[in-house]
Amino acid sequence: MKRIRKVAVLGSGTMGARIAAHLANAGVPSFLLDIIPAAADAGSRIKIALAGLDGARKTKPAAFFEPSLSSLVTPGNFEDDLTRVAEADWIIEAVVEDLEIKRKLFERVEAVLGGLPGSAEPNDIIRALYDDVQHFVRGAHASDDLTLLCLRWRGIELSGR
Ligand SMILES: NC(=O)c1ccc[n+]([C@@H]2O[C@H](COP(=O)([O-])OP(=O)(O)OC[C@H]3O[C@@H](n4cnc5c(N)ncnc54)[C@H](O)[C@@H]3O)[C@@H](O)[C@H]2O)c1
Repeated sequence: MKRIRKVAVLGSGTMGARIAAHLANAGVPSFLLDIIPAAADAGSRIKIALAGLDGARKTKPAAFFEPSLSSLVTPGNFEDDLTRVAEADWIIEAVVEDLEIKRKLFERVEAVLGGLPGSAEPNDIIRALYDDVQHFVRGAHASDDLTLLCLRWRGIELSGR
């Protein structure tokens, strides 16, 4: 099983900041990235990610098991720090519920990663994920469904009609 040593969490709102907190609770460092606020000066370019992190620190019940664990979360922004996704073993998207915003962000992430691996077959990806989960749970009873869908996009074939 591949070890997750670093994670990039894209979006530092309700979900993203708390996902980063739970990763920290598990001892996993993360980058927590968000947009730059409008009219930001040099000192406030990561203000939104910092605010998300601060919210996770103050929330009740606590998101961090220990306050000191928040030091495992490195706040940043999508303009200065998106290249950090290349250092991550896992990239989690948690930006605002707007498909166009998400799609554009995925394109930028893909550009940073130099394109997605083209050789892996969907069945192989699903098998690898499923095997990893089975290895991790070690026979524990499943309390929820595990549904995996992996699609290969082959582009649009124009029929000329
Ligand atoms: N909150 C929940 O309980 C919950 C549960 C399940 C799924 N989700 C999903 O998780 C995702 C995030 O939800 P949330 O509740 O954390 O939302 P949120 O509003 O708290 O956070 C969204 C984040 O997106 C950022 N954002 C705004 N405009 C952006 C842009 N143009 N580009 C990139 N980032 C931008 C915001 O700065 C904010 O930090 C959504 O897709 C939502 O549907 C949320």
